[in-house]
Amino acid sequence: MCGIVGYVGSEHAKEKIIDGLKRLEYRGYDSAGIALPVNGKIEIRKHVGEIKNLEKIIGGDDYDAPVGIGHTRWATHGAPSDINAHPHGNQNNSVAVVHNGIIENYQEIREWLQREYGVAFKSETDSEVIAHLIGIYYDGDLLKAVNKAVEDMRGAYAIAVIAADEPDKIVAVRKDAPLVAGIGKGFNLIASDIPALLKYVREVYFIENNETVVLTKDNIDIYDEKGRKVKREVFHVSWDADAAEKEGYEHFMLKEIHEQPKGIQDTLFKRLADDNSINLDGITMTKEDIENFNKVYIVACGTAYHAGLVGKMVIEKMAEIPVETDIASEFRYRDPFVDDKTLFIAISQSGETQDTLAALREAKAKGARIMSVVNVVGSSVARESDDVFYTWAGPEIAVASTKAYTTQLICMYLIALYMGKTKGAIDEDYYNLIISELKALPDKVAAILEKEKDIEKLAKKYYHKEHIFFIGRGLDSGVSYEGSLKLKEISYIHSFAIAAGELKHGTIALMDPDTLVVALATQDFLYEKMVSNIVEVRSRGARIVGIAKEGKNEIEKVSDEVIYVPQCIDEVTPVLAVVPLQLLAYFIAKERECNIDKPKNLAKSVTVE
Ligand code: AGP
Repeated sequence: MCGIVGYVGSEHAKEKIIDGLKRLEYRGYDSAGIALPVNGKIEIRKHVGEIKNLEKIIGGDDYDAPVGIGHTRWATHGAPSDINAHPHGNQNNSVAVVHNGIIENYQEIREWLQREYGVAFKSETDSEVIAHLIGIYYDGDLLKAVNKAVEDMRGAYAIAVIAADEPDKIVAVRKDAPLVAGIGKGFNLIASDIPALLKYVREVYFIENNETVVLTKDNIDIYDEKGRKVKREVFHVSWDADAAEKEGYEHFMLKEIHEQPKGIQDTLFKRLADDNSINLDGITMTKEDIENFNKVYIVACGTAYHAGLVGKMVIEKMAEIPVETDIASEFRYRDPFVDDKTLFIAISQSGETQDTLAALREAKAKGARIMSVVNVVGSSVARESDDVFYTWAGPEIAVASTKAYTTQLICMYLIALYMGKTKGAIDEDYYNLIISELKALPDKVAAILEKEKDIEKLAKKYYHKEHIFFIGRGLDSGVSYEGSLKLKEISYIHSFAIAAGELKHGTIALMDPDTLVVALATQDFLYEKMVSNIVEVRSRGARIVGIAKEGKNEIEKVSDEVIYVPQCIDEVTPVLAVVPLQLLAYFIAKERECNIDKPKNLAKSVTVE
C-alpha cells in the first residue's frame, strides 16, 4: 500500500527520505512525492510513476532541508496522477501531510471545508482533506492542530505532518495503518515499515493504534489518545539490510523460494525442545483454554487463506476439534457465530491486511480467543492478538508470497500438534512421527529446489498456455488453490483450482486439447482416485503435469510429465507439493517477461478494504 517516510535531524532530509521510499517500493505504488520546508514555506514536489521520475524534479537545485516527509502512493481515491500524489498541502502550503489508509468521511469534511472556509481542493483524493483540516486548526502548535484534525476524521490512517513555522519537527499519527519510528543519533525517522529505516537505524519504536508521535532531531515523544506521554520499549531490528536485497537472485521471489528450507528450519526448530516438546514462545493459551474451545476459525486472505485450508485439515485431524475456514472479507460481514469457546486464528504475512484485521476485531468483540500467525514482528494483527505465532521467514519482499506460506503451514502443524497433545487426542508415537517428518522437511524442500532446471524446462513448454487448471484431493486441493494463485498473480494466465472430485459436476466441460492440468496426487489414500480423475481429463485432450511422491510411478502412464517430491507422510506433503508449483509459476512468468516481484495491480500488503 502507500509508503510513508519522514526525517528530522541536522543534515539534509531529501536523500534519507528518497532512500527510505525506495525501500518501500515493494509495497506497490503508482506515484511518489516529497515535502520540505524551504525559505519559510513548504515546497511539495511529486510525480506520477516510479521514484526515479520524482528524482528528476528534486535533483538539480538546492532544494533541501533538515526535516521533510515523503510518500509512495497506491491509489484508492483518485487516479494515479501528479496532482493526486502525496504529500498534500493546505491552501498556502503552511502545512503538508502524507497519508496511508482511507478517510471514510472525507466527502463530508470536503464539503464542510468548501462551505465554511472556501477551501479550493486541488486533488480528487481523500487525503487532501487532512492537510486543510490541520491548516485551519493550526495556530502555531502543530501537535494541537493535528490532534484536533484527527478528531474530525473517520477511517484508517497513518499520517506524517510538517509545518513551515515549525521546521524542526514531524508529527505523526497511527490509526489502523502501520507506523514505526527510527531512533537515530542527532536525527530521527518515521516510516510505514522497517525496511525504510534499516540503512540508518537499528533501534525502533512501534507506534500503537491511536497514538501520536512527535519527532525532533533529539527526541521521539509518543502520546496515547488521551494525550498522555507513553513509555515504549525499544525494539532492536536484527534484520540485515541486505537480507531484503536479492543476494544474486534475479528476483526477490526466486530468492524467497530458495529461502524456504531456512525459513522452515527457523520457524520449526526454534520451537522444538530436545525432547520434541513444543514451546510456543509467548503463547499464553493454557490446557484449560484448549479444552474450553469447541470451535476454531481460521480466517485470512489470499495465500494466507490457502495455508488455512491445510491448517483446517491438520488441526481437525490432530486436535479433534471442528475448524471452519473463511476469507476475511466475508467473515467480517456475515455476523459469524463466535463466542468465548471459539479460537480465532488469523494468518497474515504482513499483519496489516485490513480485511484480516477487521475480521480479527469482529471475533474479538464477540469474545473469541485470538491467535495470529504473522511474519512481520510488531504488526497490527500481532499486536491485537492474545497470542502470536511468528513465522520466522524473514522479510518477504516479492508480492507473491512463498516462504511465508510454507512457514505458515509449519505453524499450522505445530498448533495442531500442541493442541492435540495437550488434549490427549494424539498419542506419543504419532506425535513424534509427525515431528520427525517435519524436521526432515528443510532438506526435502532443498532437494526439490535442486530440480528447478527441470521445472524451468516445463515452463518453457507451457508458458504460452491461456488456461491452466490445478486439481487435487484432500490436502492437495488446498495446495492446488495456492498453486493457481501463484500462477495467475505473476504470469497473468487464467488459472483455476478445483477439488478433483468436483470436476464431473460441470468444470470438466472446459477441458480441451489446449488445456493444461496440473494434477496433485501426493495423498497415498487418494492416489488411485486421482489417477482416474487424470484419465478423465486426459481423455478430453488436456495435457497433464502430475505432482506425486517418489516411487508412485503409475501416474506416469496417464501424464505428459511428472514432478516427483520426496517421500513423506501424507500429512506433511503440502510443504513439499507447493514448491514445484511456486517454481512453475515463477519460470512461466519469467518466460512471459512479467514484472515478477511487482505484478500489475497488486500490492504486498492490502491495508485498505
Ligand atoms: C499472495 O501471493 C498474495 N500476495 C496475496 O494473496 C496475499 O497472500 C494476501 O493479500 C494476504 O496478505 P497477508 O498474508 O499479508 O495478510
